[in-house]
Amino acid sequence: MNRLISSIGVCAIIACAFVPVRAADMDAAKQSYGTFCVKCHGPGGKGDGPAAATLAVNPRNFTDCAAMGKITDDTLFKVIKSGGASVNLSKDMQAWSTGFADDEIHDLVAYVRTFCKK
Ligand code: HEC
Repeated sequence: MNRLISSIGVCAIIACAFVPVRAADMDAAKQSYGTFCVKCHGPGGKGDGPAAATLAVNPRNFTDCAAMGKITDDTLFKVIKSGGASVNLSKDMQAWSTGFADDEIHDLVAYVRTFCKK
């Protein structure tokens, strides 16, 4: 009996160590993307939203796994939070720091990653 209890204890400790502090809220991110990002980035993330034609630089194709694989989450986060100009991309990508909390920006990064289907 003691052994059973101690193995449950060990499992609980291991599980706790691997449970992320907070799971991404993909539904909320999807909704935000549909409201604020889709007009430039397009419904499928290909950079072909209706407003893309008016931009000097087209947004990147998020479905391009090879290209996206070279960009870190930190960079994607920074672009969304502080705008394209913060990493020498187009300033047409505005800073969203006033619109979204950091957690929401992390969720948007995770959502943007879903367009690359390996
Ligand atoms: C007015 C059009 C527009 C809107 C709206 C917009 N973006 Fe962008 N976005 C751009 C452009 C233009 C770039 C930069 C393209 C370049 O210079 O390569 C960009 C770049 C990005 C990048 C960086 C990708 C890379 O190449 O490293 C991410 C991530 C991104 N946008 C996410 C979002 C999210 C999330 C939203 C909504 C909250 C959003 N964008 C809204 C136009 C837009």
